[in-house]
Amino acid sequence: MNAAQHTAPAPVAVVTGASRGLGLALARALAADGWQLVITARGAAELAAAEADLAAVTEVVALSGSIVDDDHRAHLAEAADGLGGASLLVNNAGTLNGAATPGAEPLPRLADFPLPDLLETFEVNALAPIALTQLVLPQLRARVGAVLNISSDAAVVPYLGWGGYGASKAALDLATAVLAGEEPELRVWAVDPGSMRTRMLQEAGPGEDISGEPLPEEVVPVLLGLLHDRAPSGRYRAEELAAVVRGGR
Ligand SMILES: NC(=O)c1ccc[n+]([C@@H]2O[C@H](COP(=O)([O-])OP(=O)(O)OC[C@H]3O[C@@H](n4cnc5c(N)ncnc54)[C@H](OP(=O)(O)O)[C@@H]3O)[C@@H](O)[C@H]2O)c1
Repeated sequence: MNAAQHTAPAPVAVVTGASRGLGLALARALAADGWQLVITARGAAELAAAEADLAAVTEVVALSGSIVDDDHRAHLAEAADGLGGASLLVNNAGTLNGAATPGAEPLPRLADFPLPDLLETFEVNALAPIALTQLVLPQLRARVGAVLNISSDAAVVPYLGWGGYGASKAALDLATAVLAGEEPELRVWAVDPGSMRTRMLQEAGPGEDISGEPLPEEVVPVLLGLLHDRAPSGRYRAEELAAVVRGGR
């Protein structure tokens, strides 16, 4: 038997919203860390570019589609199973306002929030992560794995205009905390990454200068730290975790 035959199979992570922004930055870091990946986003071209990038480093299955779609979520879980079974699910895909129409008011007040957009906001940010977790849980339990849900400070601070987004992230936070209690063998984290220089932030403030905001790559080491330390389940702010890392543990 040669050395390769002794090598443990690479663990598998499912990362939603991995075609750009924080999801892509985290997928790149996981790939460099030896993880196989199942990635998804709606935009097929951007996802294919991410896949090509990641495939140079690791085994990657890229499936385009919306996490709101039942069949698509089932395909993601099946793909993870096909790679050997997921040890990590990262519910990162998110929407600011659920609006299908470009140019829609990015941060509508609750009084004026179009209800179809509000429904989509809750579906993408809260319902779909819970539904995908349900499908992947058997794989995670078998490997004593982890769920990482990407939250926001808007889940806890009542910013005007952020009511739909913030309420949906608050729902995700509560689901995270309950799941953590119901699945004590696993790790279940919600992380507020803080402001990052991504398309979502630019869409929240069209024309605003976001060049001073940190890139998502700066948050990634904090997320990997949670994973490596198998930190207790709970809600974390990346800024606080980064301060702990800087201060030395
Ligand atoms: N940027 C910030 O300042 C900030 C602050 C706090 C929290 N967050 C959170 O961080 C996470 C990542 O956001 P980001 O800033 O990196 O945004 P981003 O650059 O706009 O990336 C969002 C990703 O999610 C995908 N996505 C959106 N809707 C989807 C759906 N229905 N199904 C599948 N994929 C979908 C997008 O691809 P497609 O559009 O092609 O589907 C893209 O890959 C989000 O959960 C966000 O709420 C961001």
